[in-house]
Amino acid sequence: MDLVKEIEKLKKDKKAIILAHYYVRPELQDVADYVGDSLGLSQKAAETDAEIIVFVGVNFMAETAKILSPGKKVLLPDLEAGCSLADSIPAADFSEFIRQHPDHIVITYVNTTAEIKSMSDICCTSSNAKQIVESLPKDQKIIFAPDKNLGNYINSVTDRDMVLWDGQCHVHHEFSIEGILALKSKHPGAKVIAHPECQKPILLVADHIGSTSELLTYSHNDACKEFIVVTESGILHKMKQKSPDKSFYPAPSDDPNCVCADCNFMKLNTLEKLYQCLKNESPEISIDPEMGKKALIPIRRMLEISEKLGI
Ligand code: 13P
Ligand code: SF4
Repeated sequence: MDLVKEIEKLKKDKKAIILAHYYVRPELQDVADYVGDSLGLSQKAAETDAEIIVFVGVNFMAETAKILSPGKKVLLPDLEAGCSLADSIPAADFSEFIRQHPDHIVITYVNTTAEIKSMSDICCTSSNAKQIVESLPKDQKIIFAPDKNLGNYINSVTDRDMVLWDGQCHVHHEFSIEGILALKSKHPGAKVIAHPECQKPILLVADHIGSTSELLTYSHNDACKEFIVVTESGILHKMKQKSPDKSFYPAPSDDPNCVCADCNFMKLNTLEKLYQCLKNESPEISIDPEMGKKALIPIRRMLEISEKLGI
């Protein structure tokens, strides 16, 4: 059976849209209607009039789509596709953390559960975190959660002192600075481009720091022909498609036995699972309606601020 053809047919028959993150397997990116980063995907999920949204990504992304469109059927090919960053912020602990920091506005990354979003004032992604923070008065006290590396980076570029939650993404946190420097000495002409979820020593040696889609645009527009890419390896597919004349080297992780630059959650998605998911309209994402209403407020704020700023 030609899975790609079957998926195309089912998608048409069921008036479904397939949204995929840059980190999923190349063959899944190629069959998607839209491939993007977390911000682009939530913008697409908010504007689509498709009856079924199939989210080829991880749980929090599909949940965000369901919160934005509670009346639509939102499917995720594998419900086990979680996120170590979203897991690093248990709701009960975060509720206590908020209680300990009165008068603080709560900004959370979209890489969180619906419950964490329901406790937040504004959401952000790595594409708009700086602008979201800067949209608030300079003396406003802020809690920024859950990614500590991103929070530290945003503190440095906005000259703020936000209170940070101690969370991290295992993929971005485990890149090896020694490994990157060794790769750089092998390819001295290559530029290091890094995601802000990486640790500070890596950001200090990076020639450019940006969200997944910013790194893609930068690698295409910049005159340099070689890049050491310090983010999840799935993005290399689009980078090579956009710039076939350039070379891209995935950055190594601390553990030489681990393919840590691959997000094991993103990689749970396969063509076969996508086909089964479309065919059976399952697994489906469901959110408690009351929780969904509360979680919608910070997501809407993020989308409104981004739209105003043209992000
Ligand atoms: P962006 O899509 O915002 O670049 O975030 C990276 C990420 O880790 C998503 O899971
Ligand atoms: Fe979560 Fe990191 Fe995987 Fe993104 S790359 S889904 S933040 S574990």
